[in-house]
Order: sequence, then structure tokens, then C-alpha cells
Amino acid sequence: MCGIIGYIGNKPLTPILLEGLQRLEYRGYDSSGVAVVCDDIINFRRSAGRLRNLNDLITRSPIDGTYGLGHTRWATHGKPCEENTHPLQDCTGRIAVVHNGIIENHRALKHQLEKEGHRFISETDTETIAHLVEREMHDDGLENAVRRALAFVKGVFSLAIIATNDPEKIVAVQNGPPLIIGEGNEEFFVSSDVSGFLNHTKNIAILSDDEMAIVTRQGVKFTKHSGLVVSKPVHQVTWDADKVDKADFPHFTLKEIFEQPSSVRATLHGHTSNKTKVTLFEDTDFAKKNFQDLERVVIVACGSSWNASLVGKFLIEDLTRLSVEVDYGSEFRYRNPILNSKTLVVGISQSGETADTIGAIREARSKDARTIMICNTPGSTATREAEATIYTQAGPEVGVAATKTFSSQLVCLYLLALSLAQARNALSDDAAASHLEELSQLPQLIEKTLLCHETIKSVAQQIHQYSSFLYFGRGILYPIALEGALKLKEISYVHAEGYPAGEMKHGPIALIDEHVPVVALIPDDGAFEKMYSNMEEAKARGAKIIAITSTGKEDYFRSSASRQHFVIPIPRTRSFLPVLMAIPLQLLAYEIGVCRGCDVDHPRNLAKSVTVE
Ligand code: M6R
Repeated sequence: MCGIIGYIGNKPLTPILLEGLQRLEYRGYDSSGVAVVCDDIINFRRSAGRLRNLNDLITRSPIDGTYGLGHTRWATHGKPCEENTHPLQDCTGRIAVVHNGIIENHRALKHQLEKEGHRFISETDTETIAHLVEREMHDDGLENAVRRALAFVKGVFSLAIIATNDPEKIVAVQNGPPLIIGEGNEEFFVSSDVSGFLNHTKNIAILSDDEMAIVTRQGVKFTKHSGLVVSKPVHQVTWDADKVDKADFPHFTLKEIFEQPSSVRATLHGHTSNKTKVTLFEDTDFAKKNFQDLERVVIVACGSSWNASLVGKFLIEDLTRLSVEVDYGSEFRYRNPILNSKTLVVGISQSGETADTIGAIREARSKDARTIMICNTPGSTATREAEATIYTQAGPEVGVAATKTFSSQLVCLYLLALSLAQARNALSDDAAASHLEELSQLPQLIEKTLLCHETIKSVAQQIHQYSSFLYFGRGILYPIALEGALKLKEISYVHAEGYPAGEMKHGPIALIDEHVPVVALIPDDGAFEKMYSNMEEAKARGAKIIAITSTGKEDYFRSSASRQHFVIPIPRTRSFLPVLMAIPLQLLAYEIGVCRGCDVDHPRNLAKSVTVE
């Protein structure tokens, strides 16, 4: 949560910091600020609320300088007001700190520092760092002051710090949440992720826990927190800067929904060859060494990634006959799970920085389980914790609500199921090839599915004022009902619940009346008749039905539906239905959010990566 950006170089500083903050705003948007050094003085500008407030402040009261820091905040300690906005400073105003994470012992530290005469201005845990560094600052450089300060600090955090009594230097520290160093032409960046500086350089070095970067105009020195020098490889990022622009779309969320034909294509291309062979783990012996002897699979994740996990359970159990358990990262890590070397634990995370999923993977490793991550973010913490990673390859996702990364997670799970099944001789090569042939149709089918956008817009205009929705699906579409309901809650702030349709009569039906629309996932499959009966039962109780069904089945509904019901057809297919069904639900949540005037890319109280528990 929270985005950090730092710059030292020869270009105008403030526009670079503001541009970086705009790219990182998805990480938190309770407040934002910059600290800019000019003529040996740190000038601060801080503003509560969205980044545009900081932009306005800087337009009214401009600043620039030669190096500095920026921060966009997701509040943990202290409300989102100007005093609690980063960068925070020490008593002298000669030190500025930006922070992502939590300083767990900040109360005790603050108490001690106040006794020593330090005056605190904010309610944040971060301010303790500024005062600690002030106390530890002697004449041996900012990095050594930071090292001494860190000896007193407990928690998970990343920090970037500047001090005018050791000028022209940014010290960046990682102990949990990520920090990436960008190395340009006589200019250097520190950022919570590559999108913060992707317009300027694609050369990056990734800090690991217990590491520090000392960034000056001359270059970057990497050390352990202890001071031991380490060498770091420089990687080239393949993501394009235009992938983090909205292009002609009004919101990133809509753009990312419409990117799904190409993101799913990229996922498939990345992990298959000639549409006939899954190529997962080809360059390692992970599958060969581990897949045959497995006894069970556990999938751990949070939020949308957890919904994807449930689809994975259906796929893996069906194709491999291995038993699959799905758990929330936050529950799994604290319930002493039963694991051994014959359990495969699969973590799923768009960001790879979700604290609970990382914790779950660590727990699995400590119990000798085999571990795989399905992740969208190269080099992220979770990918470094797991033994192997399947990258979703969906490209950067900026909208806080997961859309294109969700569909790519589903595709990766399908490929993992095929790969496990083949390694365990549960599936012949020919059968695997025929699954892949079907999967290869997905990008075109998604394109066709997206044609329902205009219909959905009109449906949304007619139903956006309802304050509660129920979503029903059966079998492998039940997790998609959960995902549709989650999307609506997140983007539109409308109460919604997803259920397996068979459960309707066991409780949720009590909620149904003319004020609670029902979204039904009702393709032309083996469960059609049962789903249809369930919807008749809902209609009989006054519910408005939004039926998402296969092309050709529309009349089935129209004949019985009065004008108060809606039918949204999607392509008739034998292909992977969960991906296709998710798309109208994403569009519905988006359009309802737009009708309700919500900030769809940045829903209130949320952040793209949840790096705290
Ligand atoms: O980065 P992750 O996939 O680990 O994130 C997990 C959840 O926080 C995330 O899916 C969240 O539910 C999204 N806002 C969903 O749209």
C-alpha cells in the first residue's frame, strides 16, 4: 500500500516526482506529498485527498530542486490529513522520510524519543524514523545514520530518506514491501514499482529484504543493512510505458477489461507451443522432480485471486484427480496447516506483494511443501519466496479492481492443471492438445463477448439505483458469481453476494424481493434447466433477473420475461466458460459504478497491493 518515488538527476525534478506519483497512485490515494531539495533546503508540499490536490497546491506554490522524494499514502496510522502526509520530517526539517509498511514498535520508540526531547507533529509510525535518523546522524554519512536507526526498528517496511547534512544522496531501504532502483542516463530513480519511472528508463535493479541502496548522481551502491557491499544485476523490463496510459478510454479499468483478448493471448503464448504443448517449467526440473509424487494441492490467495483459486480447484481436481483445498492467505498461515513434501502449495497474487499470500507461502516452505506462485509482477516478493513461478503475463494492471489479471490467472490455472495431469499420466498428449486447441480460441471469443458492452451499459442505466444484488452460478461458474459480486462491491459500493445457485433455497432466498436484482450465470450447459428453475423461483418472488446466457438461448428468456428482466448473450462455446462469463460481470460493475458517479479506478478505502496484514 503506499507508493514511494525518488529521483536524482539533471532533469526538472517536480514533474518527474508528480508523474511517478500519478503512476503509483493505485497503491494508495488518501494523501500525497513531495520533498524537494533546493539550495540545501528541503521544501515540502503535502496535501490530503487525491493527487490532483497536490498538483493544484504545487501550481499555486511551485517548487523545484535537484533531488527529492514523493509519496502517495494508504493510511494505516493516523487519519488522511495534511499533518500525516509523507514525506515526514525530523525536528530540524533537514531530514525527509517516505515509508511503505508498518513500524510495529513505533509507540515505544516515540515514547523514548519524546523523552529525549524530540517533538512529533504527526500521528504516523513513520515519523519515528525521521527522528531516529536525526538522533543517529553523526559525521559518517546518511547511510550509517540509517543503519544505526534500523537497529531499533521492528516491522515490515520500505523507506527512502534524504538529509541535507549529507546532500545529493537518497538512501533506500527494503525490509518487506518492494523497492526498485531505476538506472537511467546520469539519472537514478527509487520506486515502489517500475511503473513509477518506466517513461525514463527500463534498466532496473530489485532490492531484496535486508538490503539498502545508496543512490547518488554518480551511481548506486548496494549493501546489506549491516553495510556489507552486495552486487546486483541490472534487468531490462519488457513492459511498455504506454501500457500504463489510459489511451482513449475514460478509465484504466475499462481499458484493462478491453485488453483481455491480448492479455489472454499473451498468457497462452507465454506458456504453450504450437497450441499443442504446455511449456510450463520446461527450463527447470521442478515439474519432473515434484509433480508425480504429489498427494494433494492447496491453493492460497486473497480477494479476486482467491476467487480464481476456486476455479483452479475445479480444473485440477477434474483433470488430475488430486484433491485440492483452497484457503485464504490470512487464514492459512495462522491455522497450523497440515503440509508435507507431497503437498503442492500454489499461491496466486496479481501483485506478488500481498502480505497474507507471502506469509502463506513462507509457512508452506517452512513445512517442506513444494511451492509455486501464479503472479503478474516479475521480481515481486512472492515470486522470490516460491520455488517456481508461472507469470500471468497480463502486463501492468493499474485499475485497483482486478480484471485482466483475473482472466490470465484462470488461464494459468488451466495450464497448470494440464501440466500436472500430463506429468501424472492422467491425460494423454492428444487430450492435452485438444484442451489447448479449445483454449486457443479464447482471445477471439473474448472479443465477441466484449460486444455486449453497449447492452450492459443500457442495463446498468436501468438498474444502478438498486442497493443490493445477488449473483448465482453453478459448478465452475460459482466462483465467477463470487467474483462478479466482489467487482460490484469494489467498484460501485453496492452490496452484493455471490452464491452457488443450489444454495439459494437454503437462506439467500429470504432476501429476494422486487428490490434485490438477481444476476444469473446460466449458459447452455448441463445445469441449464436447474439454473432456469432457480431463476423462475426468484422471479416468482419479484426479483428482476439479469441473465447471462449463451447466444441462442435468449428467446428462452424473452418468451417468459416481461420488460423488467434482462438477457445478455455471450458466445456459445465449449471453450473455457469462466473467462467469458467474468467479462460481462466486470462490465456490469464498471457501468454501474460510472452511473453512480464512483471513482472506478480508485475505489474508496482500497489499494492495489495490500502489503500489510
Ligand atoms: O495482488 P493480489 O492478487 O494478491 O491481491 C489480492 C486482493 O487484494 C485483490 O484481488 C483485491 O481483492 C482486488 N481489489 C480485487 O479486485
